[in-house]
Amino acid sequence: MKNKKILVTGGAGFIGGNFVQHMVKKYTEYDIYNLDLLTYAGDLTKHNDFEEKKNYHFIKADIANRKAIMELFEKEKFDFVVHFAAESHVDRSITNPEIFVVTNVLGTQVLLDAAREHGITKFVHVSTDEVYGELDFNPETFFTEQTPLQPNSPYSASKASSDMLVSAYYETYNLPINITRCSNNYGPYHFPEKLIPLTISRVFNDQKVPVYGDGKNIRDWLHVKDHCTAIDLVLHEGLDGEVYNVGGHNERTNLEVVKTIINTLGKSEDLIEFVEDRLGHDKRYAIDPTKLEKLGWKPTYNFETGIAQTIQWYLDNKQWWEQILSGEYQKYFKEQYSSEF
Ligand code: NAD
Ligand code: TYD
Repeated sequence: MKNKKILVTGGAGFIGGNFVQHMVKKYTEYDIYNLDLLTYAGDLTKHNDFEEKKNYHFIKADIANRKAIMELFEKEKFDFVVHFAAESHVDRSITNPEIFVVTNVLGTQVLLDAAREHGITKFVHVSTDEVYGELDFNPETFFTEQTPLQPNSPYSASKASSDMLVSAYYETYNLPINITRCSNNYGPYHFPEKLIPLTISRVFNDQKVPVYGDGKNIRDWLHVKDHCTAIDLVLHEGLDGEVYNVGGHNERTNLEVVKTIINTLGKSEDLIEFVEDRLGHDKRYAIDPTKLEKLGWKPTYNFETGIAQTIQWYLDNKQWWEQILSGEYQKYFKEQYSSEF
């Protein structure tokens, strides 16, 4: 029997990269096609071990390039699409929103058209809890799949727009879709512009850690490997047209996260530097994952085990993040943070 073909977009990035590794190892009966533009956030060295694997293929392409995407779908006749490719950093969306609309909205629409034209049997759109906006600090309130979309940053607004297009293609054309909305991920290969890897790399080098505002904003942290098993489940068992929230009830203030990393690395909390708050900074995110749990998903990490393993991974894989920090990243960091850093 012919192998099923899965197109994974954004498989050179953080979550897509972990998902590609999960799928290539677990399903030899699938051919995994990793499509990625290799922007600043994409790198293929994470898949070096896979170059010899027969069921792994890489395609360099821009999801917003309609002609290239249509030709590819015509040629490869994919069965499934799992769509991660996106501009993903809130701070970059505040300084340069346009590329977020091009990639996240137009790029998604191009993929939806290609999927529709070529009879894809499942299109999983990987979204974020940030589309729901922010919660207050009442620990009894959570985002459910029924929470209205109320995005606050250009990033989350672009993701909410893409979510609505995905839903519209289900309602209008019957395209078999699912949308997953996950809380903040952490784990191996997380790009060091995001809070956890940024903190690990800077504390390791005895550099100050910029904490926005008073550090009391809350995020709900999920290990990337638990996110991958959730998407795998939705791909195979998700009911067409449904949205699934993904989260493991690991709420922490940013200050708690930073202090945990500092203490694990045996460094001083004097490294914490409170800086000007992010514009439109969402107060709190927290997910109710009941619907996905009913489908059969259970996370395997809690924050304590997950963060300890992640810190160890960064210590063991210094060459991966050091090579990122030495390039274009320096310019980004200087522009994003004041010169005292
Ligand atoms: P990332 O920034 O690490 O990776 C994005 C990948 O997409 C990169 O490899 C990049 O090269 C690629 N890409 C960007 N523009 C492209 C284009 N035009 N064409 C093809 N490829 C392109 O992002 P991530 O953190 O891995 O997030 C993946 C997805 O998960 C995103 O859709 C994001 O919105 C969503 N998400 C992320 C989190 C999180 O905590 N990081 C949480 C929930 C949902
Ligand atoms: P981030 O990792 O950018 O993810 P998101 O904005 O998608 O939640 O940020 C996580 C939290 O950490 C968020 O509340 C902003 C805060 N933060 C800082 O305090 N300092 C930083 O340098 C960064 C990048 C984030």
